[in-house]
Amino acid sequence: MSGPSDYQPTNPALKWIERRLPIFGLVHSSFVAYPTPRNLNYWWTFGAILSMMLGLQILTGVILAMHYTPRCRPWPSSRSSISCATSITAGCCAICTPAARRCSSLAVYIHMFRGLYYGSYKEPREVLWILGVIIYLLMMATGFMGYVLPWGQMSFWGATVITNLFSAIPYFGESIVTLLWGGYSVGNPTLNRFFSLHYLLPFVIAGVVVLHVWALHVAGQNNPAGVEPKTEKDTVPFTPYATIKDLFGVSCFLLFFAWFIFYMPNYLGDADNYIPANPGVTPAHIVPEWYYLPFYAILRSIPNKLAGVGRDVLGDPDPGVPALARYRQRPGRRNIVRWRSSSSGSSSSSACCWAGSARKPPEGIYVIAGRILTFCYFAYFLIVLPLLSRIEKPRPVPNSIADDVLAKTGSKAAPMVSTVIALAGRGRAVRRQHAKRPRRGSWKSPPSAEMVVRRSVRQVTIAARCSAG
Ligand code: HEM
Repeated sequence: MSGPSDYQPTNPALKWIERRLPIFGLVHSSFVAYPTPRNLNYWWTFGAILSMMLGLQILTGVILAMHYTPRCRPWPSSRSSISCATSITAGCCAICTPAARRCSSLAVYIHMFRGLYYGSYKEPREVLWILGVIIYLLMMATGFMGYVLPWGQMSFWGATVITNLFSAIPYFGESIVTLLWGGYSVGNPTLNRFFSLHYLLPFVIAGVVVLHVWALHVAGQNNPAGVEPKTEKDTVPFTPYATIKDLFGVSCFLLFFAWFIFYMPNYLGDADNYIPANPGVTPAHIVPEWYYLPFYAILRSIPNKLAGVGRDVLGDPDPGVPALARYRQRPGRRNIVRWRSSSSGSSSSSACCWAGSARKPPEGIYVIAGRILTFCYFAYFLIVLPLLSRIEKPRPVPNSIADDVLAKTGSKAAPMVSTVIALAGRGRAVRRQHAKRPRRGSWKSPPSAEMVVRRSVRQVTIAARCSAG
């Protein structure tokens, strides 16, 4: 994904393949030698976390599909009935796949918030951002179709409500709905086509992720300082520095995921979905999975169906973010106004999540709260972002990433250096004592004070570089 590589494998078999298909060179230039900004923080590990979660979902999903039959009736063939009694692997996958989807939605929102906060959508990364939005939309579509597969009450009624939204489209609406259903109501043909698409889409997502990472390697990674790398001093090789950091982030996320799976696998699910689908009984509240709640709150707060659907489609204004936010300087931790605005944008969408949740019926105060929060959500993208780019006063940016790192680690290193000098003073005293003491069979003289200072300063520099890397 990066430029041509000068990597030459030493193993004869690898050499033979490399001459015919330079795949090892591609991997080497993209994931080993690739120059990464040296000041990336842990927010930059979420791309790796998402890649791992996507792989996990595809793997467990394929295993689950080996035990699944897309049939509305009889009930025992549906996804909800797959348990450890069917097969241990299938049962584990039946718990793992939905949990992975819920946790990776959290990771994707964090990943997007990071992009919004650090301005990673700005030139030259617009295509990278738009590909991210396409991934997000595909993830939402895949998640929706996956939720229908257990064929519980919430699956059936969720599918009925969401597919019915298409009927709001003038002229073609009804035909689109009939096409989606494969008949005149949600039934077996609907389940069949949703299963087929649900199996297909994760591979499409994986393909778009490859384009996403390709675009990232062409434009280069953004970083917290908001300045592009200029010299070699600003970057470190991807392996081992970024690889180790990513592995650490992935391990921490896996711990959280394990806790979620083992202690609360159903926490973000709906109990009603354990009731077999019944077209004759409507549940008290029809509520989607947590990651759709902001869109659901927007939909509920608008009385007109077409307007609600229109706002929901617009409710994802992220593709327009590169055009809406015309900052002179790439935002980041230097812009406190920007920090407040991006946090208010995400808190209004989280609050929409609250307003759309199951325990808040669409009446009284919840409708008013939903409307106010919907306004805040749109105001963030359509008013705050464009306005901020006009009123903000950019703060000075560092000359280079290396300068930024040194400015930060310099302040940390100063007390360490003085401690080292004090220690060196002590070292000199110890040296004098050693000189007086008779030697006991040692052929090495104790280190001089200068050596102690030099060694300690070297250690401090290495520690500073490691913390920067
Ligand atoms: C399955 C979903 C996704 C995967 C596997 C994925 C993967 C990655 C990876 C590996 C990186 C580089 C490492 C990093 O910066 O964390 C990255 C960067 C990025 N992603 Fe994603 N991504 C996904 C979804 C998204 C979405 C939904 C968006 C936005 C709408 C997005 C926007 C970005 C941006 C702007 C960057 C560049 C960050 C920077 O350099 O500052 N990604 N992505």
